[in-house]
Amino acid sequence: MSGACFLVTGGAGYVGSHLVQALLARGDQVVVFDDLRQGHRAAVPSEAELVVASLSDRARLAEVFASRRFDAVFHFAALSLVGESMREPLRYCVENLSNSLTLAEAAVQAGCRRFVLSSTAALFGFPKHTPIDEAAEVAPASAYGESKLMVERGLHWADQVHGLRSACLRYFNAAGADPAGRIGEDHEPETHLIPLAIGAALGTRPPLTVFGTDYPTPDGTCIRDYVHVADLADAHIRVLERLEAGSCRYNVGSGTGYSVKQVIESVERIGGRPVPHGFGPRRAGDPAVLVASSEALRRDTGWSPRLGALDDIVRTAWAWHAAHPRGFDDRRPN
Ligand SMILES: NC(=O)c1ccc[n+]([C@@H]2O[C@H](COP(=O)([O-])OP(=O)(O)OC[C@H]3O[C@@H](n4cnc5c(N)ncnc54)[C@H](O)[C@@H]3O)[C@@H](O)[C@H]2O)c1
Repeated sequence: MSGACFLVTGGAGYVGSHLVQALLARGDQVVVFDDLRQGHRAAVPSEAELVVASLSDRARLAEVFASRRFDAVFHFAALSLVGESMREPLRYCVENLSNSLTLAEAAVQAGCRRFVLSSTAALFGFPKHTPIDEAAEVAPASAYGESKLMVERGLHWADQVHGLRSACLRYFNAAGADPAGRIGEDHEPETHLIPLAIGAALGTRPPLTVFGTDYPTPDGTCIRDYVHVADLADAHIRVLERLEAGSCRYNVGSGTGYSVKQVIESVERIGGRPVPHGFGPRRAGDPAVLVASSEALRRDTGWSPRLGALDDIVRTAWAWHAAHPRGFDDRRPN
């Protein structure tokens, strides 16, 4: 039992809700701050307090910080669709930066000194080397990636001037679901490969389109690094202690890449039925291979993925989607 108290923005969303479960399991108190634009009330257990409000509401944020003393802030709430960010780049940059720094400012004013940011592999754009480590050049290829880089820079200055220690966790592809089956992934629109492939197999989503079969990879489809949400949650908890030594940034991935075709094969193997799919042209902005080196995180915190194998990830995701074909609620017709 740790007995600490944490603020989790975006804790009703996919990755954040898995951290909330992990914190509650340790005996921590959790306040979730989420406006439910993407998140789900049902993803937040009754042991956590849910504040339904937007991060742009400074007064509500100040009230929450005044209501208790937080040991750290975990900041998941953001706009995070790469394609949308290329249609509305200014909204992404303005909203992600201003909301994040408003939150950081509120934390500083309340005397909270630890901040963990959900950052992203999208910072690296088209990387020159693989696997990608923290020393790799950051050169975002989307406004979404740029917005997260701007937040990282803002947090750097919050540390320099105000002593706010931050950990920027650059996730690769978050995937899978709570191994106990309580929560899982439910985005609308959904843009992630594994839920789209599972939905196609279950008949709850249209056939999958594989974008590009002529990449310089062994089977011609893109390769990505999938990290289980439970392992991501574990990384968040481990970096808290690491923050005692100062601000840090880490890549969080399994270190293994799987192609789109391998993901389809895994879903067919686990689900025992075909994934209806077709083929389309490459999408602009998709690098051929994105695989993380998480050596620094492993070395500094002892983290290692426990559910790193693709079939383990798909098994937990399949179980959740099969049991919840319409996700957390009835928005999506079945
Ligand atoms: N899912 C991934 O593979 C992945 C990869 C890299 C980085 N990330 C980052 O991780 C974080 C979480 O991703 P996710 O997939 O869980 O997203 P998600 O959309 O499921 O969760 C985000 C949550 O934040 C809430 N939210 C958004 N804007 C808000 C605002 N202004 N005020 C209050 N609440 C707000 C949403 O309602 C939602 O519940 C995001 O910051 C994302 O950029 C995710």
